Amino acid sequence: MSYGASSDPSIASENKPSKVTVPSLRAFKLRGEKIAMMTGYDYTFASLLERSGVDIILVGDSLGMVLQGESSTLGVTLEQMAYHAKAVARASKRALVLVDMPALSYATLDRALHGAQMLLGAGAQMLKLEGAGVMVDIIDQLNARDVPVCGHIGLTPQSLHKLGGFKVQARDTKAAQKLLDDARAIEDAGAEMLVLECVPASIAARVSEALSIPCIGIGAGAHVDGQVLVLHDALGLGTHRRPKFVKNFAEDQNPAKAIERYVSEVKAGLFPSPEYQYE
Ligand code: KIV
Repeated sequence: MSYGASSDPSIASENKPSKVTVPSLRAFKLRGEKIAMMTGYDYTFASLLERSGVDIILVGDSLGMVLQGESSTLGVTLEQMAYHAKAVARASKRALVLVDMPALSYATLDRALHGAQMLLGAGAQMLKLEGAGVMVDIIDQLNARDVPVCGHIGLTPQSLHKLGGFKVQARDTKAAQKLLDDARAIEDAGAEMLVLECVPASIAARVSEALSIPCIGIGAGAHVDGQVLVLHDALGLGTHRRPKFVKNFAEDQNPAKAIERYVSEVKAGLFPSPEYQYE
């Protein structure tokens, strides 16, 4: 039997960027390479993200808002996360697949292990949990069982009601110190990465400097180790209020315009033109 060179993982092809793995994440930070992460929820968009060179695809529980039209992420279930994780994992070759554990699915260790089994079984390579405090122990316990974990602090959408809305966090000195302490505790518990959401840029920079794991920002300024955006926001398709940190990267080629054009061409009888029909 003969083996092609590509089947030998020790022979990396020269120009092909290598697969993003959990152990490779710290190397990004060490060499100062920013990590590009974006949410993805289905096979087609995950394939697009993969082709575009996204390093990490986050199957975020934001799907409750952008796919289901809910006003928060609180109603998302484990089964729904597993369904979307499976579709994304099928498309992901180089990108790492990070999956959110939905609200309260990791409130106890038993629940967290049950959820981890489901999501890892669906193709997740790392799981994201929101919060610190009692969650630090859950992170520690998952880590002890070799489940790779990403923390998430600052604005934690699963705590929406307790926080009183989607608001910038860690604005005063005391809250900023707490954010830093929480970040250190999460790293010490064995998290492989940390998401910082909606915090002042200077505070996020301090957290990123203090930690050896990569810190990924969303509304956390530029001085962190990578960025994440919700796909629909980055494509200008978001229907919820657009936060200040969202940039519409499709401004000039807005996909919504494509649908408007489709409607107007159908109405005007311009579509389908001959090249789109069978003779
Ligand atoms: O669910 C999600 O999309 C997220 C990002 C906003 C970080 O957690």
